Amino acid sequence: MPDEHPDSSCDDQKRTDAAVGALSRRRFMQTVGLSSAAALADRARAAAVADDTGAPPILGPGAVDIALHVNGATVKVKAEPATTLLEVLRMHLGLTGSKEICGRGACGGCSVLVDGKLVYSCMMLAVDAISAKITTIEGLAEGDALDPIQESFIRHDALQCGYCTPGFVMASTALLGENPRPSLDEIKAGLSGNSCRCGSHSNIFNAVLDASGQAPIHDGEGA
Ligand code: FES
Ligand code: FES
Repeated sequence: MPDEHPDSSCDDQKRTDAAVGALSRRRFMQTVGLSSAAALADRARAAAVADDTGAPPILGPGAVDIALHVNGATVKVKAEPATTLLEVLRMHLGLTGSKEICGRGACGGCSVLVDGKLVYSCMMLAVDAISAKITTIEGLAEGDALDPIQESFIRHDALQCGYCTPGFVMASTALLGENPRPSLDEIKAGLSGNSCRCGSHSNIFNAVLDASGQAPIHDGEGA
């Protein structure tokens, strides 16, 4: 019997871990694929009412017509079914306030409201937003009059480079919509899905406190 290399059991374990990891990732991707396919199938079934053959229409793989309700207006675009809501907003509609930073649901830079709920638009397919009411940062102001939360961000200098700011403003809007007078801890929790690499957090928390009629904290105490 050949001598066993001292590291062989360790190598075996690594191979086992790698196999399990690959399986888990594969399973995850399959699950994501299935849930996306199921969502599309649901939408296709919903849209199939007018199909006299009774067969549900197949979406894609080429571009399809997509009608969305964005900032109070109905807009129509032609995009592949795999196009994200963020891509449609930025690339098709020119609404570049929502930012693509991580592109994978980790930073909140692309946050918008979909039927009043905070959504990472990089993680939602545009076809899944059909018939929903979408609000982007561009839809908050009324003409030249900024939304009070936008005014408060300016008043408290709650930004540096500003790249994360639209996402934070949308997350703050969603938070105040659900909780008009959040505590500091509730503000931190409500904005925890957004990140600011410039470290503007304490001023952002001040802005939300002020916008909700509460005294701001002293700079540096809330970070
Ligand atoms: S770009 Fe969507 S969460 Fe980061
Ligand atoms: S202000 Fe620069 S990332 Fe937040």
